[in-house]
Amino acid sequence: MKRMLTGLQPTGVITLGNYIGAIKQMVKYQDEYESFLFVADLHAITVPNSNINLKENTRSLIALYLACGIDPKKNTIFVQSQNEYHANLSWILECNTYFGELSRMHQFKEKSKGKENFTAGLFTYPVLMASDIIIYDADYVPVGIDQKQHVEIARDIAIRFNKKYGDTFIIPEPIISETGTKIMDLIDPTKKMSKSSENQNGVIRLLDEPETIRKKIMRATTDSEMLVKFDEENKPGISNLINIYSSFTGKTVSEVEEQFKDSNYGTFKKAVADVVVSELEKIQIKYNEYINGTEIDQILKEGREKTRMYAKAKYDAVKRKIGFYE
Ligand code: TYM
Repeated sequence: MKRMLTGLQPTGVITLGNYIGAIKQMVKYQDEYESFLFVADLHAITVPNSNINLKENTRSLIALYLACGIDPKKNTIFVQSQNEYHANLSWILECNTYFGELSRMHQFKEKSKGKENFTAGLFTYPVLMASDIIIYDADYVPVGIDQKQHVEIARDIAIRFNKKYGDTFIIPEPIISETGTKIMDLIDPTKKMSKSSENQNGVIRLLDEPETIRKKIMRATTDSEMLVKFDEENKPGISNLINIYSSFTGKTVSEVEEQFKDSNYGTFKKAVADVVVSELEKIQIKYNEYINGTEIDQILKEGREKTRMYAKAKYDAVKRKIGFYE
């Protein structure tokens, strides 16, 4: 059975973008692949974030995974920092990665831009991510388009290692959903919907109150044309809402255009709000059950044991290939 793996950072309540870009896909494919889903807490400390409560956020993220439909019987769920082999392997991979290629990463360029004091961890972030993926021989990695370049460098690193030391790693492939590859900010639809956005009106979080979600969608920036038509360049706001509607209903973009061809933006936005609120309300009810229950501890205990065993075996194999003293 092919393997699939992804991780999300516990840097606050996840957004509609995280849900559509990563979690929904994990849910969709969990019957087809052996699945690994983790909390990327080591990545969360690459940028200064003084008010982040890692313990609480980690537990909350796991509760959200479960509430979104991630089945713990089909997924191995774990916390990155509870498995030291990721960081151990990352060091070895760093010694097989070039400064030049890491300098070209879009995320690094964006997050370090104009700053003098960014961390070395921000720079080597993609190598740790490569380690997360290839330590489990993952075949597929569901991510939003913003992380595609990082999966590509993971491939390059794995290919390079295999060439130098002999076949060791599976070469992973990203899975990027057709709709919702990049969910945009509702207020400024030319930029990505992001947890760290300054204007929270542009960002829907999975635990926002239903009324807040509805208001945010109703106030989303559109254009003056009054035509529900997909055109990312000239109509980024409407195109974003079409993507969201399409991800929640499973309809194609042209089916959505056809359905709303005679509607005004108010009617369309209300329909988008209805489908989003109805799905997120169900998630929120389940979230409250999981966060107050005891299941999470047991799930993480099992996930930790299993993934440490897998990761250790791969790490030992890597050390043998390189020829370290045993
Ligand atoms: P994070 O927490 O920043 O993002 C988690 C996932 O959400 C996707 N995403 C989006 N998708 C669509 N539209 C958006 N607006 C949007 N915003 C975020 C991201 O692409 C990502 O899939 N580096 C990873 C965490 C990670 C990881 C890994 C992922 C660490 N190791 C190994 C896969 C495999 C990240 O960006 O997390």
